[in-house]
Amino acid sequence: MSLSSDAVARRFGDGGPSGEGAEDNEMIRRVLSRKTVRRYSDKAPSEELLDLLVAASLSASAKSDFQQASILRVRDPARRAAIGELFPAMPWIAIAPVFFVFLGDARRLQRIGELRGKPVRNGTLEGFFNASVDAALAMQTMILCAESSGLGVCPISVIRNEIDKVAAILGLPDLVFPVAGLCMGYPQGEGYVSLRLPRGATTHSDRYDDSALSSVIDDYDRRRNALHAIPPDQQRGNNEFGKAEFYGWSEDKARQAAKAEGAAFPPYLRSHGFSLD
Ligand SMILES: Cc1cc2nc3c(=O)[nH]c(=O)nc-3n(C[C@H](O)[C@H](O)[C@H](O)COP(=O)(O)O)c2cc1C
Repeated sequence: MSLSSDAVARRFGDGGPSGEGAEDNEMIRRVLSRKTVRRYSDKAPSEELLDLLVAASLSASAKSDFQQASILRVRDPARRAAIGELFPAMPWIAIAPVFFVFLGDARRLQRIGELRGKPVRNGTLEGFFNASVDAALAMQTMILCAESSGLGVCPISVIRNEIDKVAAILGLPDLVFPVAGLCMGYPQGEGYVSLRLPRGATTHSDRYDDSALSSVIDDYDRRRNALHAIPPDQQRGNNEFGKAEFYGWSEDKARQAAKAEGAAFPPYLRSHGFSLD
C-alpha cells in the first residue's frame, strides 16, 4: 500500500477507492491526513511566515474576480480577550498564538461601484453568498498552507453566535461579516485524523442517490465509535432527549443540529446592509 492509499483508508475506512497506483503527491497526502488543532505550544509563528500565509490565502480563487474576501488579524490583546470571554467553552480562542478573522466583504464591490459611478446593489443573496464563498476559500487555502508549514489551526464559526458583540469589537461596517475566525499555532500533542463519512454517502455518480443513507450511517456510526467513542458524560441534551444506549456520531450531530445556532445572524445581516433578496 502506498502512503496515500494508507491515508485514504485511515480517513474513510470505507473500503472504497484508495488511489493506489496514482503518482505520489505530497500535498494530497498531507490533506488526507490533516486534522484540526486546538492546543498550541507557546512558540509563535514568525511574522514573515504569517505574511506569506496571508498572501497565499488571498491567492485563492474568487467568484468573478470580485475578490470579496477580507482578512482581519486580531493583534490587540484587549480585543482578543474580549472575544475570548464571549466563548468560555472554547479557551483556544483567547490563547492561540495567532487569531485571524475571515470576512465576507460585500462592501468593497459596492464602494467600487460608487467610485466608478455605477451603482451596485451587493446586499442581495447573490452578493452575500459570493462573499461567503470567497472568504471560505481564502480560509481553507490558509489552513492548508499553514498545515504544510507545520502549523495547526482551528476555524471558529462560533463567533457568529455573538455577532453583534464581535462586530462591535472588530469595528465591522455594514456589508462586512465574519465567516469564521481561525486560531493558529504550532501543535501541542498529536491529535487524531477524524473519520469522514463513507464516500457512499457523500459521492454520487451521474445522478443523486441517497437511498442507502440509513444503513451507510449505521455502519459509519459503529466504525467511528470503535475508533473514538463519545464518552457517556459527553452526551448532549440528555435531559431533553434521554440517555442513549448507543451514542454514535449521527445521534450526536442530530442532537447538536436540533438546537439551532446562530439565531442572531440573520437579523444582524438584515440590519447591516443585506436585503438578501
Ligand atoms: C467553518 C468551520 C467552522 C468551525 N467552527 C468551529 C468552532 O467554532 N469551534 C471549534 O472548536 N471548531 C470549529 N470548527 C472545527 C470543526 O469542528 C472540525 O473541522 C471538525 O470537527 C472536523 O475535524 P477535522 O478538521 O480535524 O477533520 C469549524 C470548522 C469549520 C470548517
